Amino acid sequence: MLRVTLFSAVLAAASATRLESLRLRGGQQKEKVCIIGSGNWGSAIAKIVGRNVLDRDQFEDEVTMWVFQENVDGKNLTDIINNEHENVKYLPGVKFTDNVVADPDLTNAVQGATLLIFVLPHQFLGRICPQMTGMAKGCRAVSLIKGIEFKDSKPILISDLLAAEMKKGPNAPDVDMSVLMGANVANEVAKGDFAEATVGCTDLAIGAKWVSVFNTPDFKVDPVMDVAGAELCGALKNVVALGAGFCDGLGFGGNTKAAIIRIGLKETAKFAKMFFSGVQDDTFMESCGLADLVTTCFGGRNRKCADIYAKMQKAGTPKAWDVIETEELNGQKLQGTGTAKDVMTCIKAAGKEKDFPLMCQIYRIAFEDAKCETIIQINN
Ligand SMILES: NC(=O)c1ccc[n+]([C@@H]2O[C@H](COP(=O)([O-])OP(=O)(O)OC[C@H]3O[C@@H](n4cnc5c(N)ncnc54)[C@H](O)[C@@H]3O)[C@@H](O)[C@H]2O)c1
Repeated sequence: MLRVTLFSAVLAAASATRLESLRLRGGQQKEKVCIIGSGNWGSAIAKIVGRNVLDRDQFEDEVTMWVFQENVDGKNLTDIINNEHENVKYLPGVKFTDNVVADPDLTNAVQGATLLIFVLPHQFLGRICPQMTGMAKGCRAVSLIKGIEFKDSKPILISDLLAAEMKKGPNAPDVDMSVLMGANVANEVAKGDFAEATVGCTDLAIGAKWVSVFNTPDFKVDPVMDVAGAELCGALKNVVALGAGFCDGLGFGGNTKAAIIRIGLKETAKFAKMFFSGVQDDTFMESCGLADLVTTCFGGRNRKCADIYAKMQKAGTPKAWDVIETEELNGQKLQGTGTAKDVMTCIKAAGKEKDFPLMCQIYRIAFEDAKCETIIQINN
């Protein structure tokens, strides 16, 4: 659970430059992009955004990228990025355009920006946001962060959390938040393999702005006016992927996995609608919905660990999730198990177990010693 209390007062006063740029928005004022985060996905996105702003008149040429400073072979990662135009640690072998400028100082990186892209693992947000006090005024923001928080048996969108925290502080305005979600494995996107993505936005004009930031012939971005629906797809897919992994581990074929994907998508939509207003059916047919779910149920760490969990259980030598995580993920974190627990808490608190047979059965298998074979004994 993100420590909401860690977020201190955010947004006090904007610089005169920022206010000026706000007044001129809609006229000739150019937008300036700042990317907050520089991991695998942040770097793939920096490659795309760096190229796009050079090609499109509405943007300033420079894109700043806040980088968590690390030492790589005796050198600062920011210096390597700025000299070699490559994030050798998180996306080796892929070059940025040289207008992408890495900065280890968040205040400097955000200075003068009007469009903020949040793309860091969400466990680090608690450290970042307090530093943003006074910096996001006049900005619009988009979250590329896949994950979800829970409080009082209810889900909280990361985008809502970011917006609420940036609104804190004296004279802090609302910061409009969109999300970018989709079937997007960073390394494939960075290579230029064709992919689609979905912008969930509050307003189509803002959605169009984000499309112009991200869209390329190889990365096709479509807007939907549904932030919650798009964002929840990105979070709940990891729970469904556990179900897909159980099927793989037991040796079930494609028909069974297709059934899990179909039911999982339906339950994801039901869950989103139960907790958020304005969620639209069409969202689940976009890249953020069906496509991301399919990708995650065929590849990815959650499917892989559930596959092993099922095999070990079937062999009579069950393995705990934390052991599988440590042995298989090389320091990365398994997300589906934690989300499965939180989702179950919400479903139980709402008394809706009958409406979510798949999510409930995945939970029972993962945490209550139910046999993996029971994944197909659901009354849908
Ligand atoms: N990687 C993908 O294929 C992919 C695709 C779509 C969405 N996403 C989502 O994008 C978000 C970012 O993922 P990613 O793959 O770019 O990140 P990543 O897993 O590569 O994370 C590493 C990032 O965390 C930073 N970091 C490490 N320690 C830190 C600390 N103590 N404080 C602050 N930052 C620290 C690193 O500098 C680096 O930028 C996630 O929510 C992820 O779910 C990832």
